[in-house]
Amino acid sequence: MRRINNILITGGAGFIGSNLIRYIFLETDFMGRIINVDKLTYASNLNNLSDIASKFKLKRYFFKKVDICDFENLRIIFKKYQIDTVIHLAAESHVDRSIVGPTDFIHTNILGTFNLLQIAGSFWTDRKYVLFHHVSTDEVYGSLGKEGYFSEETAYDPRSPYSASKASSDHLVKSYFYTYNLPVTVSNCSNNYGPRQYPEKLIPFMISRMLEKKELPVYGDGKNIRDWLYVDDHSSAIWKIINNGRAGQTYNIGGDNEWENIELVKLLCKVFSEEVDEDLNLYESLITFVKDRPGHDKRYAVNCEKIKNELDWKPSTVFESGLRYTLRWYLKNDDFIKSLKNNQFENWLVKNYNSRSNNKVNLVTR
Ligand code: NAD
Ligand code: TYD
Repeated sequence: MRRINNILITGGAGFIGSNLIRYIFLETDFMGRIINVDKLTYASNLNNLSDIASKFKLKRYFFKKVDICDFENLRIIFKKYQIDTVIHLAAESHVDRSIVGPTDFIHTNILGTFNLLQIAGSFWTDRKYVLFHHVSTDEVYGSLGKEGYFSEETAYDPRSPYSASKASSDHLVKSYFYTYNLPVTVSNCSNNYGPRQYPEKLIPFMISRMLEKKELPVYGDGKNIRDWLYVDDHSSAIWKIINNGRAGQTYNIGGDNEWENIELVKLLCKVFSEEVDEDLNLYESLITFVKDRPGHDKRYAVNCEKIKNELDWKPSTVFESGLRYTLRWYLKNDDFIKSLKNNQFENWLVKNYNSRSNNKVNLVTR
């Protein structure tokens, strides 16, 4: 087990980062400090951590609004807080946005990762008791047919600007291990769901639409398959890796939980109608098939025997109960979505939806 004192978490104001910080403070015996570095893009929300901030602020929790491409400020943070562990999550993370405008993906995901590696490499001169953990996606492996699973040995074959930028960052991270002896680990995880996710990804987007009884746009024939993992199960996997993972290794993380998109949306309709005590047909009738995403990967499925066997990790959340919990969280925290009813969010919805819909339905909700 590694000795961990000062963790730099990048992207800690986003979906997985904020849940991870909560997990480490609330569910583990970690007694050190977390420094959350986040540029606060549209996808971030510092309210996700307001209780953590008031409980641990200026003693064990520190927030810095810094771009990971900002070499000088990151160097100062590394020095000031004597960082010994990096958990790197900051990224542009939505495939649809990467199709419409890939530039930020290249900057943050590739150059930002490079920047962090340079700083860690120069700061950690003796390479002892330190670790750079890079959080990545199973999408780097490309698209599966009906059979088979991604393993750690699967060749990279990214298909979207998002997955290509993540693949590039994974390669850079690994290269620092082989070339500069920097202790690194990489995890490639399947689709996460849970509270605090910006409502542009499938599950929270569908929830936001159901809340307004608006159309539920399913891309293509709805038969694309994703493997879904509850976000806290991802956090527990990352925690196992940074404590006991072997430097230079990749660990795949998945939920053993494959769903066709259309079946998942129907399940969401069922759970939602039960939670709000309304007719299931009302919600199912909102399902609308729309033009497919270009380069839409058919199926993702992850073999995660390595992390199960080596680090004794397994997913523990039953899917329907995780979905129900997530739904209840969004119902209870309706400000999370309401506060996004600004032009930026609306414009994105209209742009993304109209690029798919033959009917060019006007989605503006006010
Ligand atoms: P997110 O979009 O919810 O959050 C990303 C965070 O990074 C935001 O808080 C944003 O402000 C911050 N950020 C973006 N650019 C930055 C920059 N230049 N400098 C500093 N901060 C910046 O994303 P997420 O879903 O929480 O994903 C986190 C990580 O996990 C990403 O690296 C993503 O590729 C990976 N991942 C996500 C999933 C998933 O299903 N969401 C699955 C596997 C891996
Ligand atoms: P998404 O949550 O964007 O994650 P990713 O593309 O990274 O897997 O999408 C999950 C799946 O849901 C993907 O196959 C695309 C599909 N999808 C829809 O059918 N409708 C939607 O409105 C969205 C956002 C996604």
